[in-house]
Amino acid sequence: MTASFRSIQAQVFTPVCSGCHAGGAAPAGLRLDVGNSYMMLVDVASVEVPSLKRVQPGNASNSYLIHKLEGHAAVGARMPLGGPFLDATTIGLIRQWIDSGAPQ
Ligand code: HEC
Repeated sequence: MTASFRSIQAQVFTPVCSGCHAGGAAPAGLRLDVGNSYMMLVDVASVEVPSLKRVQPGNASNSYLIHKLEGHAAVGARMPLGGPFLDATTIGLIRQWIDSGAPQ
């Protein structure tokens, strides 16, 4: 896995998240299947904490996606719901992608 959106989609969002986060009933309206995830994450306000962007380009620590993956979000549970949770290396690569501007 690398810190590119393509790699994160293929290694995390599609296999780990899209089982729940897809279709019209996706939790919090967040679809993470290929073709939807980028436009639903980057520069989009979170539903649970609307003052935070799901992904704020250049600022992983202030991105709600990271709060949910690390388990310190203000609302709801750690993701992926029920675990097993992502390891620190994988979360680090997602942080790196966001901190480098979250390019598509
Ligand atoms: C078993 C089902 C399930 C899986 C798998 C899952 N989620 Fe979730 N997700 C939920 C539910 C339900 C909520 C809303 C309740 C909560 O936050 O606890 C949620 C909420 C979220 C939110 C908050 C969205 C917002 O706008 O406030 C984010 C971000 C999120 N999930 C990301 C992920 C990511 C990334 C993965 C994969 C690593 C993932 N989820 C895997 C069920 C799931």
